[in-house]
Amino acid sequence: MSGRFITLEGSEGAGKSTNVDIVCETLTEAGIDFIRTREPGGTPMAETLRDAMLHKWDEDVDGITELLLVFAARAQHLSHVIRPALAAGQWVVCDRFTDATFAYQGYGRELDLNKLAVLESWVQGQLQPDITLYLDVDPDIAEQRIAAREKDRMEVEQRDFFVRVRQGYLARAREHQRFEVINAGNPLLEVQAEVRQKTVQFIRRARSG
Ligand code: TMP
Repeated sequence: MSGRFITLEGSEGAGKSTNVDIVCETLTEAGIDFIRTREPGGTPMAETLRDAMLHKWDEDVDGITELLLVFAARAQHLSHVIRPALAAGQWVVCDRFTDATFAYQGYGRELDLNKLAVLESWVQGQLQPDITLYLDVDPDIAEQRIAAREKDRMEVEQRDFFVRVRQGYLARAREHQRFEVINAGNPLLEVQAEVRQKTVQFIRRARSG
């Protein structure tokens, strides 16, 4: 069986990290060889670009700077981690990928979606995730969940920003069949059960195809 590329997406407060754990546990139980990684990040240099992107600078960060930082990190991550793993037949579980760029920089920062699409095809060619689990949550619920956290430069954005981010994810979900939209406003255990079930179904499909 060849490698498969699984991504998880969602706003802050959607419970993404715990559910990445669930996907990984499910793959381990199924005896699948996989790596777990994240964006922005995944290589030492890409992690430095992540730190630069999330740092609360004393200067305004231009939306274009932010966009190019995430794609720079992605280029490095793809060539050093994701493509070699897939080529070796490993599965890749990635906490966020390019759908986040469309949601945060495209919809959140309102940058030109056509320019994002050009960068997407330049940096990743035809490569797309095989499945994307999107944890969808109302921004008001998400805000309550992260209220006590120490926040990075993205997390301090206002409600309007996160409303647009959610619209961006839902638009991508309508355009791409690989999306599974999961209602992350449900109780945590229900969300985890659904993530596990979707992962099991995906493994079955991969094994039979
Ligand atoms: P996370 O570790 O909570 O997922 O944080 C990563 C942050 O980076 C989150 O606020 C979303 C943001 N981000 C973008 O704005 N664009 C991107 O392309 C990616 C991958 C993440």
